Amino acid sequence: MDDPAGHQLVLAQRTRDLQTQFERLLAGRSEFVWEIGCGHGHFLTAYAKEHPDQLCIGIDLSTERIDRATRKRNRSKLPNLHFIQAEARLFLEALPPGVGFSDVYVLFPDPWPKLRHRKHRLMQPDFLRAVAAKAGPSARLFFRTDFEPYFTSVEHSLGESAGWGRVEDPWPFVHETVFQARADTFHSLCARPLHRRKD
Ligand SMILES: C[S@@+](CC[C@H](N)C(=O)[O-])C[C@H]1O[C@@H](n2cnc3c(N)ncnc32)[C@H](O)[C@@H]1O
Repeated sequence: MDDPAGHQLVLAQRTRDLQTQFERLLAGRSEFVWEIGCGHGHFLTAYAKEHPDQLCIGIDLSTERIDRATRKRNRSKLPNLHFIQAEARLFLEALPPGVGFSDVYVLFPDPWPKLRHRKHRLMQPDFLRAVAAKAGPSARLFFRTDFEPYFTSVEHSLGESAGWGRVEDPWPFVHETVFQARADTFHSLCARPLHRRKD
């Protein structure tokens, strides 16, 4: 990083922007269904249509994917659905106290198959811990991937130190994503937080 102080300023501004968006989107609500890495928004758009009483927020790093997802959302005229360009950790940090997600979906996250790139994977113990800290009382984590070594590493990460315990709950909603359509086979798991949220 050439300019760490400048980078911190950018992060602080992004956090403030997210907080402004939360105020508008949450409108007094304290829970939402969250999708991390929503891509073009196929899954969450279908989910929000079936669950009009639930606030649904999808995030992705890619502005182009969020723009496409937002166009899909606008065509569907779903007031309970929102897509935000955001990095998952920053999104978590910017959430107001007392606000958390009911369920979180992580579907086909980038697998980073090369050993030297593994550190870029999203689903790592420290991230799982940060996600668990914002989980509502009956929250569940739904994870799906077609890259078996990634699936195994997440299975092994679950437990006390990550704050999640695996359960065999059926998936409440299923809809094929873009990456799922390309996969020959895939693996899925569901987990529940081991501790109650503190805020
Ligand atoms: C392989 S794609 C899967 C997209 C979609 N879930 C699907 O199944 O079709 C992974 C997505 O995660 C997004 N992503 C990667 N890291 C992220 C992060 N830290 N925060 C938010 N989104 C992220 C990428 O931009 C990409 O759109």
